[in-house]
Amino acid sequence: MAVELYRDPQHVCLMFTDLVEEDGQAVQSNQFLVIDHGVGALIDPGGNLAFHGLFASMAPHFPPPRLSYLLASHADPDIIASLDQWLTSTRAMLVISRIWERFAPHFTKVGQTQDRIIAVPDEGARLPLGRSTLWLVPAHFLHAEGNFHFYDPVSRILFTGDLGASMVSGTQASQPVRELAPHLPHMEAFHRRYMVSNKILRLWTAMARQLDVDMLVPQHGAPIQGAQAIADFYAWLDGLACGIDLMDASAYQLPRDRIDLTTRRTMPPTPAPAPSLARSDQTTP
Ligand SMILES: [Fe+2]
Ligand SMILES: [Fe+2]
Repeated sequence: MAVELYRDPQHVCLMFTDLVEEDGQAVQSNQFLVIDHGVGALIDPGGNLAFHGLFASMAPHFPPPRLSYLLASHADPDIIASLDQWLTSTRAMLVISRIWERFAPHFTKVGQTQDRIIAVPDEGARLPLGRSTLWLVPAHFLHAEGNFHFYDPVSRILFTGDLGASMVSGTQASQPVRELAPHLPHMEAFHRRYMVSNKILRLWTAMARQLDVDMLVPQHGAPIQGAQAIADFYAWLDGLACGIDLMDASAYQLPRDRIDLTTRRTMPPTPAPAPSLARSDQTTP
């Protein structure tokens, strides 16, 4: 079911939160449709798990074959693994960081991406959409090396990919959060492991504070809405140690545990058998 994030007569932003539910195998993820004056863009359309549901769910709002753009914040499977199906069923262009331009064709059949990719330079750009633009905002290393967020100046929504992600159900993801503190337990572990460093977070917040943002919408979990919650989110990021901040030599030791094929989990190494008496006797001079 589509969640309406914004609507005026010529501009619509929709979010789909329940097409890929957290089920222990795949992480819950959101997909987005932005329409301006009859021109449509999908943001982070997702993997093969999402394709058929998204195609059917967006159809009442916008005819999928008429899509102009597939915007990919980065090249992860939950972002764009459905690329082949979308390029086959639409004439849309893929908009993605230039550093993924030559990797994205690995998701498709031979030749499928020919003249279909807009490779975005590191500094970003403003992409025409109907009579408006979508801003392709640099967010490198948050978490991918080439990473963009998408700012819609009409709705004042900043689509932040994995930044701001929370691990909740699709139903919870459909409800914007207006108070950050109770939401932090759903976000913290993810950000500590998936975001690269506090330096990068602070560079990003310094840029993001220049934007007029009403709602910050991640690709997993619930949107963060309102000036106070967004300010609190920026402040939280400013103080968060993550990624390489937390890595030291203990994280780079040669492995000793073995994978048990029954449980598919790691187990302590099997102790070496004690030397037998007979063996001891043989080696006694
Ligand atoms: Fe990702
Ligand atoms: Fe993701």
